[in-house]
Amino acid sequence: MELGLKGRTALITGASQGIGYAIASGLAKEGVNVALLARNREKLEAAAAKLTDEHGIAVECVSADISCAESVQSAVETLRATATFKSLNIIVHNAGVPATSPESQLHWDDPAWREVIEVKALGGLRLVRAVLTMIPTDGSGRVINVTGATGAAVLKPGLLHGAANAALIQATGYLAAELAAQSINVNAIIPGLVGTENRRKWLQGIAQTVAKPAEDVLTGLSKELGIVTGRWAEMSEIADLVTFLASDRASYINGAKIPIDGGLTLNMRGR
Ligand SMILES: NC(=O)c1ccc[n+]([C@@H]2O[C@H](COP(=O)([O-])OP(=O)(O)OC[C@H]3O[C@@H](n4cnc5c(N)ncnc54)[C@H](OP(=O)(O)O)[C@@H]3O)[C@@H](O)[C@H]2O)c1
Repeated sequence: MELGLKGRTALITGASQGIGYAIASGLAKEGVNVALLARNREKLEAAAAKLTDEHGIAVECVSADISCAESVQSAVETLRATATFKSLNIIVHNAGVPATSPESQLHWDDPAWREVIEVKALGGLRLVRAVLTMIPTDGSGRVINVTGATGAAVLKPGLLHGAANAALIQATGYLAAELAAQSINVNAIIPGLVGTENRRKWLQGIAQTVAKPAEDVLTGLSKELGIVTGRWAEMSEIADLVTFLASDRASYINGAKIPIDGGLTLNMRGR
């Protein structure tokens, strides 16, 4: 399928690793020039070098903290000053705070609570506010929010992640309605469990503790969570959905909240 993405530009947050990097790579494969945003410059530059090597597209790194308005604004001004990224067709807000501990988030302090909301929910709004005048109004403009199943179901320990994802899912619909006047489509994708580098380490840890092969642990976890497909998503599967949504082929998909979770949020019960 010809997606017509060659030569377009994208800004992806949280693009130095994991799902964000996979999304950047998926878009780059289609000839999209990509700007990568995260805080750690070294990691960003390593990611950029790999993308340039593999796909021969233009890559720009902007080191910024999405939870800070000034930092986001300054990153956007850096891009505005470049010949390639002064116009941005595709905005992907993917950055998020990892849930590193299984402990109840109810007992976190206020700064820890705030960080999750600041990065995921307010970060997405902050980003759109900062880049809006750089998105073309010719129908190629896309905002794609990467949320998570915690925003659509109760999944422990994601109390704050759930609140932040649910807020961003709701804001996606609002933004779709408001930005339709500029012919910009706004959609959210809702992944379940994804086999990122960090998730692979986490799975290996569990497998070692229970002395079982990682594949068996994953099958058991999938069953426990109600993932009817019986496995996690590969990062490339998430990237493929984002690439399609970014393309002209998806021009009639607007304000959608699309689960990509192997059936996790079907909430399957019974045998
Ligand atoms: N992995 C899963 O199973 C899964 C499932 C559902 C949804 N999701 C969602 O998908 C997104 C990506 O997940 P992932 O597992 O790939 O995450 P990850 O491996 O933890 O990567 C997070 C990315 O976000 C960046 N980031 C974090 N805080 C930031 C900040 N304040 N400002 C700018 N960048 C920031 C990180 O770089 P720096 O630290 O250098 O800033 C990194 O590039 C997250 O929103 C997550 O909630 C993941």
